[in-house]
Amino acid sequence: MRKAIFPGSFDPLTNGHLDVITRSSPLFDEIVIAVLNNPDKKPMFSVEERVQMIEEILPAIKHNGCVLTVDSFSGLTAEFARRIGASAIVRGIRAVSDYEYELRMALMNRKLEPTIETVFLMADEEYSYVSSTLMKQVFLLGGRVNGLIPELVESRMREKLNTAGPQGH
Ligand code: PNS
Repeated sequence: MRKAIFPGSFDPLTNGHLDVITRSSPLFDEIVIAVLNNPDKKPMFSVEERVQMIEEILPAIKHNGCVLTVDSFSGLTAEFARRIGASAIVRGIRAVSDYEYELRMALMNRKLEPTIETVFLMADEEYSYVSSTLMKQVFLLGGRVNGLIPELVESRMREKLNTAGPQGH
């Protein structure tokens, strides 16, 4: 049983994330999309909202027979992977600028859990500039993000914006 985790903040999930999930699906029997609960950050969506959104999107993801599940975790990624019996950590690389941070993280995770391998996948070039942070920024400033995030995510972002009311000066 080849089990992997795909960890991240997913605030929110983008089409770049979906691309990495689909690309990694033929390599594993199960992939757990692991949403980090980071109390230091002020996210747009709560962990519960993120997990629920991903669960709703899950059935529409092309998965090549791989079982896709969602979970949340606090603390160390490597420790979470070990605890649930995963042998790999999947990460997407968009550009060279991602590499140094990802390398340091992979080496640290290997130091913490030497039996767990990090597997890097190159995201489609179509999404090479797509990040959750940029999507939020563009959306909040009224720009178009269609085709870059799932429609469900876009509608939840709109709901957030409407309930939060106008911000700033
Ligand atoms: O894609 P993201 O949102 O930048 O995800 C980063 C994430 C969640 C993978 C990373 O911040 C992480 O693993 N955090 C958990 C804490 C941890 O394990 N730190 C040591 C790894 S170097």
